[in-house]
Parts: sequence; structure tokens; C-alpha cells
Amino acid sequence: MITFILNNKTIKTPEHSGMTLLDFVRYQQRLTGTKIGCREGDCGACTLLVGTLVNDTIEYQSITSCISPLGNAHGKHIVTVEGTNLKDKLTAAQEAMKANYATQCGFCTPGFVVALTGFALSNSDKNYSNAIDAISGNICRCTGYKAIEKAAHQVVEKLENKTETTLDWLIKNAFIPEYFESIPQRLKDMEVADLNQPKGKYVSGGTDLYVQQADHLADNEVHLIAEKDYLKGITIKNGMCTIGTNATVSDLWNHKELNTLLPNLRAHLKLVSSEQIRNMASLGGNLVNASPIGDMTIFFLALNSTITILNSEEKERTVALKNFYQDYKKFDLKDNELLKSIQFKLPTEHSFFNFEKVCKRTHLDIASVNSAIHISIENDSISEAHVSIGGVAAIPKYLHETSAFLAGKPLTSETILEANEILQKEITPISDVRGTSDYKRLLGRQLFFAHFIALFPKQFTLNDFIQHA
Ligand SMILES: Cc1cc2nc3c(=O)[nH]c(=O)nc-3n(C[C@H](O)[C@H](O)[C@H](O)COP(=O)(O)OP(=O)(O)OC[C@H]3O[C@@H](n4cnc5c(N)ncnc54)[C@H](O)[C@@H]3O)c2cc1C
Ligand code: FES
Ligand code: FES
Repeated sequence: MITFILNNKTIKTPEHSGMTLLDFVRYQQRLTGTKIGCREGDCGACTLLVGTLVNDTIEYQSITSCISPLGNAHGKHIVTVEGTNLKDKLTAAQEAMKANYATQCGFCTPGFVVALTGFALSNSDKNYSNAIDAISGNICRCTGYKAIEKAAHQVVEKLENKTETTLDWLIKNAFIPEYFESIPQRLKDMEVADLNQPKGKYVSGGTDLYVQQADHLADNEVHLIAEKDYLKGITIKNGMCTIGTNATVSDLWNHKELNTLLPNLRAHLKLVSSEQIRNMASLGGNLVNASPIGDMTIFFLALNSTITILNSEEKERTVALKNFYQDYKKFDLKDNELLKSIQFKLPTEHSFFNFEKVCKRTHLDIASVNSAIHISIENDSISEAHVSIGGVAAIPKYLHETSAFLAGKPLTSETILEANEILQKEITPISDVRGTSDYKRLLGRQLFFAHFIALFPKQFTLNDFIQHA
């Protein structure tokens, strides 16, 4: 039985784990405040909050319920817009939307209200930029975003720029109803038996699978792995980082030490989908989806990562990520195997990492071309380099020859221009909806130059490259 708390009500349901949480909430529970827009994770109309018990406290995150399996709600607190309502007045998020005329037809409004309530409940600093991030996965077709941004601003003001909010404070200040205070204890007391379903397609966050196969997964066996402890965790030790494949993009975002070691991490991760998707999207799912433009795949290729693969007999093997991909969506993984973890050497004071992405719009879009680099410098020379690029080949591509060429060369514009010649021979872009092959070649070149301009701004400007390219 799938067991969880939905708003203020405990649910025990024999429904199929693979049906979407959205369908359960709307059609089984008749909570129709949660809307259906795109059913692809793109519009945010179906946004819900998921509360997870972590060491006696509860952490809330927003998700798009249209691409989330019901089984992933097991043991959690799920909050719909109805569950945020107060008895006799509007909540702070609802009031902000109303006061700023941030709603017209109202179809998107529950999604915005839930996302803004999630922002108030979250651990993030309560500033305007984070409030806008919280609604980065919500689309409105008729009001215009200025009014919604003003509503977000009002929510931030009401939160008094706090770094942390307690449930108690949020209840007293009309952000959430009183019953929230009882949830941590109720989750602790809840019997959450293992769903025990070791068959079917592996599903972690579901953000790739459910866009393509939601109907199929609703009727067929699914093997939910998002809550498997042996696939979780981020460990930093002896200059190495090991990340369980169930870690989500948001887990990286929230990891303090990793953000110190990779100082631009959040700026890079901000380019990956929206907050709702980042809260669900696992690294394992990104790697196994094998999309030639998978952002996290490109990221970890440049970190020269290795991956640990676990089989059904609990035997492990390790593969360099750069050797994992064989052809379009073909990779070195057998049916009885799953990815367990990703390991990579952390940047040092002599090594530098950068990630670049170009897409048709800045946020919530997949890349036309993306690229990453990890480069080590000793005495003005490049001692080691790893460069990856997406969208220009059938696989997410580690640039073996370009990386090898850079090693041992002086860090000069001549070296970089020569390396670009090799890069251009290594890539084989095709024309498609994301751009012509010529355009992608140009992007490949520009992103390669951009790495050096971003990492060594005192040494290089665009003019150093463009005049000679
Ligand atoms: C609206 C939207 C925007 C998006 N934007 C971006 C973006 O900007 N950049 C980007 O890179 N991606 C983007 N994605 C794609 C997706 O979110 C990511 O690829 C995500 O990391 C997939 O993780 P998941 O846990 O949701 O995968 P799932 O859908 O659960 O699984 C994907 C595949 O991986 C397999 N799998 C999962 N975990 C394992 C494991 N540990 N071992 C073996 N197999 C496994 C599954 O069987 C499945 O084949 C977007 C998706 C949506 C819906
Ligand atoms: S319905 Fe559009 S994100 Fe779910
Ligand atoms: S108010 Fe109509 S879609 Fe936003």
C-alpha cells in the first residue's frame, strides 16, 4: 500500500505506483485545484509540494506532479493548493497574487501559489532572486509576468528577508495552515513498508520517462529507486567527490561544501530546467537518458568522472564516463545493472571548471549546444584538460583529441585557436530544430572560447579569438 499524507489526510492506497501523482490527486481525490496544462513538466500548472522528513525536521520542495509517479509520494507529505488554504482568509501567497493583480483567467494561479508557498517553506534565503527561481517552472499565458513578479516581491517582503523560517512563524504569519505543525510527528509515526517492486523499468525522478511514457508506466510495472539509500548521498573526501546517482540537481545546489569547491555551481545549475524539475531530476537519470545535450552529463564528462555500476548480484564495476557512451542512446549498461555513483577529482587551487549552455531561451529550455571544461594550470602552462560538448554528435561528447592537445601547452590565445581547429574536426553536428549544423559548429567554437574568457578574464577577451578565428 502506498502510504502518505495528502494535505491533512492520511492516504493508504492500493493504486498502481506508476500512475502520475497528478491523476491520483485530481481523479481519485477530486482535488481539482491542481491543474493539467502540458503534462510534460513545462508549465507548472500541476505544481505540488513534497515534504520529506530529514532528521526530525521536514523539508519541502516543489515538483510538477504530471511527471511524478504516485509511488514516489510514499512516506511523504504532499500539499496541493487546497492544502495551503486558511479557514477564513487568504494566505500570504494568495493575497500577494490578488493584491498585485497577478491573475486573470486563473488557470496558472494555483501553481504559482503553491510554488511561492514552497519558497516560504524552503531552506533558501528569502530574497527576490530565490523567489523568482521558485516560480521559474510556472508559465502564465494571460496576466503578464510583471504583476506576478510584484506578487513574488510582496511575498519576500512579508518574509522579512529571513534566512530560515520555522513552521511556527509561517503559521503565525498566514503562510500555511495550522495542521502543518502536526506533520513531522505524523510522518514519524506513519508505518511506511517497503513497496517491494523489484521488477519493471527503473524510475528515479521520472522527469525523462514520464514525458514520453506516462500512459505506459501507469499500467506496467515500475521499479521505483528514488528512495533507495544505497543510491543516495554526496561525500567529499581526500579531494574526491562521490555522488549517489539518486542525488538530484537540487541536492547539488543545496550542498554547501560542493558550492565552495565549485564556486559557480549555482549559476551553472540555474541553466538546468526549472526549480520544480531540478527538485526531481536525478543525476543517474540524466546520465542514462544519454541525451547528447544532457546538461549534467556534459558537466560530469568534463570533470573526467568515473561511474560505479551495480548488478543484480550486487557486484560492482567502474567505467570512465567518457567511455560509457557508444552511439545514439547506446551505452555500456546491461539490463540487470544500474548506476550506483559518480566519482570525480575536485578542482584545486590550480584547476578551474566552467560550464556554458546556449538555448533558445535562458531558462527551462534544453541546450542547442552546451559545453564544460576542467583545466589545470601550472607555471602558465596547461598541465591537464578535459573538455566536453553536447549537441554536436550522436552522444554527449568528451573531446579526447582536443583535451589531449591542450595538455602540456602554454595558456595562450594561439593554443586555444589551434585547439578549436581540432575541436571542429572532432564534432559532427547535424541540422535539426535546435539549429543548423553550421550554427552548432559556430556555437561549439564560441562556447570553447567562452570557457577561457570566463575562467581567465584578465588574460583573454573575445577580441583575442574572434580576429583570428
Ligand atoms: C520540463 C523539463 C525540462 C528539462 N530540462 C532539462 C535541462 O535543462 N537539462 C537537462 O539535462 N535535462 C533536462 N530535462 C530532462 C530531465 O529532467 C533530466 O534528464 C533528469 O536528470 C532525468 O532524471 P530522472 O531522475 O527524472 O530520470 P528518470 O525519468 O527517472 O529516468 C531516466 C532514465 O534513466 C534510467 N535510470 C534512472 N536512474 C537510473 C540508475 N540509477 N541506474 C540506471 N538507470 C537509471 C531510467 O530507467 C530511465 O531510462 C528536462 C525535463 C523536463 C521534463
Ligand atoms: S501539467 Fe504542465 S507541468 Fe504539469
Ligand atoms: S492567469 Fe491565465 S494563464 Fe495565468
